Amino acid sequence: MRMIDIIEKKRDGHALTEEEIEFFINGYTKGDIPDYQASSLAMAIFFQDMNQEERAAMTMAMVNSGDKIDLSQIKGVKVDKHSTGGVGDTTTLVLAPLVASLGVPVAKMSGRGLGHTGGTIDKLESVNGFNVEISEQDFIKLVNENKVAVIGQSGNLTPADKKLYALRDVTGSVNSISLIASSIMSKKIAAGADAIVLDVKTGSGAFMKTLEEAEALAHAMVSIGNNVGRNTMAIISDMSQPLGRAIGNALELKEAIETLKGQGPKDLTELVLTLGSQMVVLAQKAQSLEEARQMLEEAIQSGKALEKFKTFISHQGGDSSIVDDPDKLPHAKYQIHFQAKKDGVITKMIANEIGVASMMLGAGRQTKDDKIDLGVGIVLNKKVGDSVKEGDNILTIHSNKENVNEILDKLDESITIEEKGETPTLIHKIITE
Ligand code: URA
Ligand code: CA
Repeated sequence: MRMIDIIEKKRDGHALTEEEIEFFINGYTKGDIPDYQASSLAMAIFFQDMNQEERAAMTMAMVNSGDKIDLSQIKGVKVDKHSTGGVGDTTTLVLAPLVASLGVPVAKMSGRGLGHTGGTIDKLESVNGFNVEISEQDFIKLVNENKVAVIGQSGNLTPADKKLYALRDVTGSVNSISLIASSIMSKKIAAGADAIVLDVKTGSGAFMKTLEEAEALAHAMVSIGNNVGRNTMAIISDMSQPLGRAIGNALELKEAIETLKGQGPKDLTELVLTLGSQMVVLAQKAQSLEEARQMLEEAIQSGKALEKFKTFISHQGGDSSIVDDPDKLPHAKYQIHFQAKKDGVITKMIANEIGVASMMLGAGRQTKDDKIDLGVGIVLNKKVGDSVKEGDNILTIHSNKENVNEILDKLDESITIEEKGETPTLIHKIITE
């Protein structure tokens, strides 16, 4: 087999065979196929696209390019959730203990935040003592004992994807639905998921800016999953404004606790119940989404979910007394309010811009090696669709620097008040096949 023939075949719009795709992925991972040929094929795929069989073959070839986490010693259906990334997205922190409290095993591998989006591990590390650097064996043991554990990214997972994604990033072929879908799905499958729930975000803060693009990506991932024997469902949710009220590590942890107590923001709660219902159904703990939702609501009301959160924290070395006493979490020295300059309705709170403002405060990393400040961030007192009067506190900046003028300017550009406006739709679509 020759790489040049594969490139020309795709360039001319033909479907590649499984063997050809494996030849490319294996050869590229080993370094036998050079970057220029790989980038040429990625561009051909960008223009000519791939059919469902090709996408499935691409995904599995990338899964097989490196280590795979073996979760077979964990009893039950392991359902993983993936979000395509957003600002203030506190869902995993709530979902993990919530669905675990219904007996669904949650074996979650998570990452740190980079840029304007946060990472679950950073948020958890705002709890004193919480440790994600555990062995695979301990991880499996924790999930069997308590149904929920989180581990940091470890091992040599999907090296083909790492190499290809970096190459696409500098050669103009990131935005191919086929390549994005296989990239994301390969990582979930290599991390051991039997079933997958996807939260595809759309709006200014998201990777997919329009609903059409988000829908195409969601369908592509759901069909890859189902083609390779992993039950997969997706929802498309709004990321035009930050999710919930809190953005920042300890602030989001506190928000997760409130949500587990049934006192969380409406949008975050709704998203958690929607995604959670899918997880419970895929784990075969409920027959229907309606039944699953009822079980989840009951777990919140009874305090069962909150109790699970406490044991989750203490089993990984964290101080679980923060659940009853969140003031023990790291907090910032200054609280500075951003006020409405006129009466009206908020029509825009641009998610990625507010995410960048929070990063500038120190809540996120600009480069991989930056240290973050766990206590800082932004709390939205108002959201899009809310009425305001001049002088109302739209949001509160939690900062360890006294001077936040640069951040106030940035927020000023990101928030719009007009005469009329409405609350955006949170959940655009539910995709089950
Ligand atoms: N995120 C990924 O993980 N892969 C892509 O290709 C694009 C976004
Ligand atoms: Ca939030």
